[in-house]
Amino acid sequence: MSLCRVCHASVREFFDFGQHPLSSAFTVPGRTTDEFRYRLAIGVCVSCSMVQLLEDIPPEHEVHEGYPYHSSNSTVMRAHFEETARGFLSTELTGPDPFMVEIGCNDGVTLRTVGDAGVRHLAFEPSGAGGVRVHRAFFDGASARAVRAAEGPADVIYAANTLCDIRDIGQVFEGADALLTPDGVLVFEDPYLGEIIDRTSFDQIYDEHVYFFTARAVRAMAEHFGFELADVEHLPVHGGQIRYTLARAGRRTPTASVDELLAGERARGLTDPATLDGFAAAVRGIREDLPALLRKLGAEGHSIVGYGATAKSSTVTNYCGIGPELVPFVCDTTPSKHGRLMPGSGIPVRPPEAFSSPYPDYALLFAWNHAEEIMAKEQAFREAGGRWILYVPDVRIV
Ligand code: TMP
Ligand code: ZN
Repeated sequence: MSLCRVCHASVREFFDFGQHPLSSAFTVPGRTTDEFRYRLAIGVCVSCSMVQLLEDIPPEHEVHEGYPYHSSNSTVMRAHFEETARGFLSTELTGPDPFMVEIGCNDGVTLRTVGDAGVRHLAFEPSGAGGVRVHRAFFDGASARAVRAAEGPADVIYAANTLCDIRDIGQVFEGADALLTPDGVLVFEDPYLGEIIDRTSFDQIYDEHVYFFTARAVRAMAEHFGFELADVEHLPVHGGQIRYTLARAGRRTPTASVDELLAGERARGLTDPATLDGFAAAVRGIREDLPALLRKLGAEGHSIVGYGATAKSSTVTNYCGIGPELVPFVCDTTPSKHGRLMPGSGIPVRPPEAFSSPYPDYALLFAWNHAEEIMAKEQAFREAGGRWILYVPDVRIV
């Protein structure tokens, strides 16, 4: 029995994906290594309802390169982060000499936009990447206290696609408590369990995503650490996220959106066993349907290529048993992935040029969270008769 990473009550398992490699473990062709595997399984806390991974990656296998650095080359995400920065500049950062901190910094777009407006800013980023002012450390109690002593308190601590990765989440709250002004806010956005269940997007579940937040679980977590859930906002990016705004307990009146989202989660029984078991059944359905479709198309003589060597695709390929015999290669814009093999499945990764020379008959869209942008960019593929294969919310050709 696992114990909840937040409140230490017991966690009820509801899905086991089997043994998986780390989603970032791209390998070099020809080099046979004993790939590390762990049990990818997920459960729900019987007390605070936090949905979370069950197994810990042993420290010697953990990747310590910093926060996941999202260089997705996505114009949609760039626009999203610029808008995020403008939002903070007009709300939380209007006092005298405001200060904004980011945990990890993605492409650095948010803090660059804040900096361009003349506002003090700092990213906690152990890798030093991002091209903005960086404090080279993980965000925790000690590093936050050090920054507080040197630079004073922060009005905003922001994190995008980062908090759900931090196993010892109590350290984030210790740091926030040390660094924030009395009325400061901790704001974070991550994949939303409600969307994952609605879309059966089981590929959001991999080693780096430890928590699958809901308003109910985030509220309980905030209270556990002396904070309060003050606001929630739906975001359209990455297949549906929620942005949570947390303040110290008693400092802000929670908005009506908080109550609405909580009521909606209650009404649909979001973390009830029946809902989670229904999700599990839908995931098993995709494991039947996707390889069957790929085998059928292959047998008919059609060519198939993967699009986007995402971390998510590691769960799909390894859980569904999809290897190079079904998908000969995946194209991706990230130079460091080129010439490597996808973790576990061993599917080679090639540069984006490989997609068009010649175009395949079908493209399996692993980067479905960027579907609109990618489909717009790849008009010529469609005009050449190409078709996309999607697997969330169900397996289909479009
Ligand atoms: P993300 O889901 O974390 O943003 O990762 C997206 C992956 O997909 C990343 O490896 C880059 C790749 N990608 C492409 O290959 N082409 C594209 O047009 C986009 C937007 C992403
Ligand atoms: Zn719990």
